[in-house]
Amino acid sequence: MKRNSPNPAIVHIVGAGGLGREVLDAFFALGYPAEDLVLVDDHVPTTEVHGVPVCRPYEVTGGAFVVAVADPAVRRTLSKRMIGYGLVPTSVVHPRAVLAHDVRPTDGCLILAGAFVSTGVRLGPYTQVHYNVTVGHDTVLDEYVTLLPGATVSGSVTLRSDVTVGCNASVLQTLTIGARTMVGAGAVVTRNQPADRVVVGVPARARP
Ligand SMILES: CC(C)(COP(=O)(O)OP(=O)(O)OC[C@H]1O[C@@H](n2cnc3c(N)ncnc32)[C@H](O)[C@@H]1OP(=O)(O)O)[C@@H](O)C(=O)NCCC(=O)NCCS
Repeated sequence: MKRNSPNPAIVHIVGAGGLGREVLDAFFALGYPAEDLVLVDDHVPTTEVHGVPVCRPYEVTGGAFVVAVADPAVRRTLSKRMIGYGLVPTSVVHPRAVLAHDVRPTDGCLILAGAFVSTGVRLGPYTQVHYNVTVGHDTVLDEYVTLLPGATVSGSVTLRSDVTVGCNASVLQTLTIGARTMVGAGAVVTRNQPADRVVVGVPARARP
């Protein structure tokens, strides 16, 4: 049985885990009623969360979506899948996040409470900025970048696609981090980093 509606006003939150519930909270804070929301998940056994129905991916029939999964590769796969089902990406910005006047969230962006995104920042498609993250002026986040809670990304930094910065990690100003590199929790990145690395520690070094 289909659990949602072809109503284009319906927003599908893809992923009903912890982040899914955090995103649900952001939509509630924005004033969305439960009837305008659907959670989409392959695995969770529940059929409802806080009054919002949970459906399987193959049950979606139309509307908008935002992917509530932190892993960039999984998020990329799920985004393409939802577009294949005819859904259109949307973004969500918690009302208690602060975005400079010239910052524009693009399709699929997710920005949680306490985030501060400074002037001149470019948010690529499907980027995620979690609780209490700071993004400094003129920084560029390419698509599918994920900034986990408390991360601090300084000014004029470039994070290539699918980079993840772990909780409470810092990236110093003007640096570039290559695609798909993972910065471990608490690390301080003081040098440019190539693609496809896991870096940890202070100063951050590639994990052996
Ligand atoms: C860096 C990271 C990706 C490594 O994950 P992993 O490959 O599963 O690593 P493991 O847990 O197997 O640990 C491997 C080694 O790295 C060390 N290590 C793991 N994360 C580390 C970190 N952030 N800083 C320093 N050392 C770390 C472990 O202590 C372990 O060392 P040991 O072999 O001497 O015991 C992960 O630990 C991390 O920091 N992820 C970010 C988590 C985060 O921000 N979560 C927020 C959720 S809201």
